[in-house]
Amino acid sequence: MNLSLENKVALVTGASRGIGQAIAMALAQAGADVVIASRKMADLEKVEVEIRNMGRKCLPVATHVGKTEEIKNLVDNLMEEFGRIDILVNNAATNPSMASAIDVDERAWDSIMNLNLKGLFFLSQATARIMKEKGGGRIINVASIAGITPDILPVYSISKAAVIMATKVMAQQWAIFNIRVNAIAPGLTKTKFSEALWKNQDILNIAMSRTPLGRPAEPEEMVGAVIYLASDASSYVTGQIIAIDGGMTI
Ligand SMILES: NC(=O)c1ccc[n+]([C@@H]2O[C@H](COP(=O)([O-])OP(=O)(O)OC[C@H]3O[C@@H](n4cnc5c(N)ncnc54)[C@H](OP(=O)(O)O)[C@@H]3O)[C@@H](O)[C@H]2O)c1
Repeated sequence: MNLSLENKVALVTGASRGIGQAIAMALAQAGADVVIASRKMADLEKVEVEIRNMGRKCLPVATHVGKTEEIKNLVDNLMEEFGRIDILVNNAATNPSMASAIDVDERAWDSIMNLNLKGLFFLSQATARIMKEKGGGRIINVASIAGITPDILPVYSISKAAVIMATKVMAQQWAIFNIRVNAIAPGLTKTKFSEALWKNQDILNIAMSRTPLGRPAEPEEMVGAVIYLASDASSYVTGQIIAIDGGMTI
């Protein structure tokens, strides 16, 4: 079994904090050089320092992944610096609205779908075109258990269900190019994104009553599956969704 990512180039979106930061650091620890993207450069630069301290190359690129022209700029920068990409982790996502399905508005729908689904798809397409030319690659999407069973965030759940189908479609169509595409589906994880949930004792109690392991995850608990899916250890695995949820979806 080979978990090494020596001499690989990886791109992680939403890498300035939370799950994306943990994934970027773990990819570097496994030997990869890492391109990190999110909107705020100042936050990316802190992660860049940590990755460079591990002896790996790191390129931060300020990018709104919901905007097609910024995706192009990201890929252009990556190609100028490294000339190829082996691993893409589509991690950036948003949920600006807690409104129920009867109330949610079009603006929230567009901002969720533009980043969580459209940005994920077209960044995957742009990198897959490069991977195809270079002989292959791996794409790992960060979905959510909210895409498997609906939760209190309706449009977010719909977007993550679509991420799961996008994973299967890309895996089926790009296997011929030696590109494997898989996803992880985290359960409740202690990040800024979800703090309104895990810092609210009532919501936390309800969530944990449905979670056999009885606690929310730490961001670092997401990385083992990502390293597995990014490495040759998973060479016959594609189109799969790995739930990392303390057993919640049982
Ligand atoms: N935390 C959970 O409980 C949980 C559960 C299931 C799934 N997930 C999924 O895990 C992934 C990471 O979430 P997280 O909890 O780690 O969130 P987080 O701590 O809030 O981090 C989100 C990251 O995405 C970046 N980002 C936000 N909007 C962006 C945009 N438009 N373009 C580019 N980057 C953007 C943020 O940086 P900037 O703000 O600087 O752009 C940040 O780096 C998401 O796909 C989320 O849906 C999380």
